[in-house]
Order: sequence, then C-alpha cells, then structure tokens
Amino acid sequence: MGRRDDFVVGLDIGTRHVRAVVAEADEKGVHITGIGQADGLGLRGGTVVNIESTTRAIQKAIDDAGRMAGCEVGRVYVSVGGQHLEGSNSQGVVAIKDGEVSEDDRDRVLDAARAIKLSSDREFLQMLPQKFRVDDTEGIRDPIGITGVRLEARVHVITGAKASLQNLRRCVIQSELDIAGIGASPLAASSATLYDDEKELGVVLVDIGAGTTDVSIWHDDALVHTAVLPFGGNHVTSDVAFGLRTPRAEAERIKCRSGCATVHLVDEEDIIEVPSVGGRQPTEQSRQFLAEIIEPRVSEILEMVREEVRKSGYQELLASGIVLTGGTANLEGISDMAEEIFGTPVRIGVPENISGLKDMVADPSFSVAVGLVKHGFAAAESAQFEAYRRSQNSPMNWLGERMRRVASIFF
Ligand SMILES: Nc1ncnc2c1ncn2[C@@H]1O[C@H](COP(=O)(O)OP(=O)(O)OP(=O)(O)O)[C@@H](O)[C@H]1O
Ligand SMILES: [Mg+2]
Repeated sequence: MGRRDDFVVGLDIGTRHVRAVVAEADEKGVHITGIGQADGLGLRGGTVVNIESTTRAIQKAIDDAGRMAGCEVGRVYVSVGGQHLEGSNSQGVVAIKDGEVSEDDRDRVLDAARAIKLSSDREFLQMLPQKFRVDDTEGIRDPIGITGVRLEARVHVITGAKASLQNLRRCVIQSELDIAGIGASPLAASSATLYDDEKELGVVLVDIGAGTTDVSIWHDDALVHTAVLPFGGNHVTSDVAFGLRTPRAEAERIKCRSGCATVHLVDEEDIIEVPSVGGRQPTEQSRQFLAEIIEPRVSEILEMVREEVRKSGYQELLASGIVLTGGTANLEGISDMAEEIFGTPVRIGVPENISGLKDMVADPSFSVAVGLVKHGFAAAESAQFEAYRRSQNSPMNWLGERMRRVASIFF
C-alpha cells in the first residue's frame, strides 16, 4: 500500500450503510480515488446500537476504499446523524477592542455566540456563522476591518447527545482509525449537493436515508434551521413487507427495483413477482398495488418535512425550492410527489463538483460521505495556510483566511 498523505477520507456511518470515500484535491475540487460500502445494521434511527457490527462495517468500508485508492487510511472525517442532533440559532455580542473589527474580535464574538447553555448529557458539535452586525449595520458577512464599537454575531449551533457521540467515537477508534473531525450529516449533505445560489435564495435540503430524514434550511447564504426526523426508507420497507406478505429482505429488494412513490405514474398492466413467507409459492401482484403501499408512507414523511419547515418560519423564503438526497431519493416518483406536497420545484441532489470516480458516487446516498471529504479539504488547506503564514510571518490573504474560517467552523 502507498504511504501517501495528501488524501482525505469521509466516513458516513448511516442506519443502513457505512460508506467511505477517499479523495485527493485537484484544481477543480475533489478528485475521488476510492470508495467502500458495507451494510451497517448496527444503528437504529441514525444512532449506534451495536458497536461490534458497526465496527465491522466501518472496517470493511475503509479497507475497500483504501484498497481502491491504493492508500492506507489512518484518519477519517466522520458523520453523525440521528434524532439526538439539535440545531438552534444563537447570538453573541462583544465590544470591538481597537475601533476596527479584528480577527480576535470576530473569534471572541463567535465564541460568545456558541456558548449556549447545555445540559450535562449534551455536547457542542458544530457552529456556522449566519450574519454579523457592527453597531447599527446589519447583515454583514465578513466583519473584519469594519469600524465600530459593538460587534454582534448570529450563528447556527448544532449539538448532539454525549452518549450517542461517545458510542460513535468508540466504533471508529475500535476500527483503529483516528478521528480528524466529526460533522453533522445534514451539514455534510448540504456541502456536497447544494449550489451557492440556492443557499443564497433559500432552499430546503431533505436527506431521506434508511432510518432518518434530515432537514436543513438555508437562507441568505446561511444555515438557519436543522432537524432530524425519525423516519426513512426502512419504514417504507416495513410497509411493503407487511402489505405484500413477503420477507423484509425481499421487500427491500422489490421496493428498490419496482417501487414508485406516485401511483398514477405506474402502468396498471405492470406485474411483479413477490416471494412469499413460510415456503409458500411466490405470488404475482400489480406494481400499482406496490405503489399504493409506498405512496402513503412517503407522503407522510414529506408532510412531516413540510410541517418542520412551517414551524421554522422559513416556508415563504424557499424560492429556489427543495432538494431531495439520501438513498430514498432514488425512489421513482418521489420528486413528483414532493413537488405536489411543497408546491415548489424539486430536484434530486447528488454530489457536485467532483472528478475521478465520480460515476461511482453520483448517487444521492453518497452525499454525506462526499460532503465530509469537502469539509476535510477545507480543514487541511487551512492548516497548511496557517503553517505557511507562520513561516512567512506575512499577513493573511483573503483566501487563506476564508479557508481557516471554514475549517474552524466545520470542525
Ligand atoms: N431505488 C431505490 N428506491 C427506493 N428506495 C431506495 C432506493 N435505493 C435506496 N433506497 C433506500 O434508501 C435507504 C438507504 O439510504 P441511505 O444509504 O442514504 O441511508 P443511511 O445513510 O444508511 O441511513 P440514515 O441516513 O437514515 O442513517 C434505504 O431505506 C433504501 O431502501
Ligand atoms: Mg444517511
């Protein structure tokens, strides 16, 4: 195995799958060199419930990805999902020390904004600045150099349950990997799939996985709301198994191969073969009947998302619409149904701005793993820039400063 150290690895530990993506940076962005995937089954609703099987899945995904990329993986950027994640908006205020906002002032105000009161069972995970205000001037993105006496910051803070994070860390460490950073899945999925103009105008990213549905709302280039709902493709599979009286594994296969979220899109002549339980003969069912089982559950999940958006107070601002990602976004007819429910344009989000093995990750279920890699590069570039800056003792350039901030925010 090669001993290269110019690569970054994203590890998405999901309810159904564990996915690893190895990538190198190129001038266009992220160049994917290896991927690995394993059935997880050690999580429930995004939270680890079985350390051993999760560890085994991590090892398999990492081994496969490392082998494909020809490198030995030692450090990973890991995602955390699950209903225990909580996003909230917070703010902080400081006095500007020397009449002009310095980096130190900005760091202090961000520290003040992220210092939310947490109960002893919760842990701070990530913070994203939204906007700054200097005296009476609001809506400032980068306050450095602005003259004033009072600096205010509004931020979005994501926290998680200590125990869930500890179990996740244990699985990674038991897989003999170092954790370079932990990122909330909704944020990682956003980084991989959303365009800057969507975030600017307003967009809802909905990552429908197996056990959870993550909702991230962006407006005015800032993350303003995150939530994790405890429903996903597993619930659709359970309904199919029950409705067709077929084993769960068959229901999963039938759902992925022949399922459709919108009954009226299915030809009434289409027939599928359904294996039975208890050694009985397979039966033939109409594909429309399958869609009749799937449609209400998917509609229920999307309606819960709509309710979450309504509660957030941002529904009027979602001018550029909804982006669906996560494995369940592969379900035929899901974007038609979402357009009907939200009354706004819907697109399926897959990882963007990547090269290399891009066809292998051109699937909505790879969004989180690719997003982690992007965060990882931001962190690595920032560290390199810091080292360069120290060696040159030169003032920070704009790009380096921006990278440093991106990295310090994400990890
Ligand atoms: N073609 C398809 N049609 C319908 N559902 C699909 C299809 N492909 C994948 N899925 C569903 O996507 C889900 C897996 O998605 P994904 O890999 O994003 O989940 P996960 O990350 O493991 O879980 P979570 O994010 O909820 O913790 C499964 O429920 C699977 O049945
Ligand atoms: Mg997932």
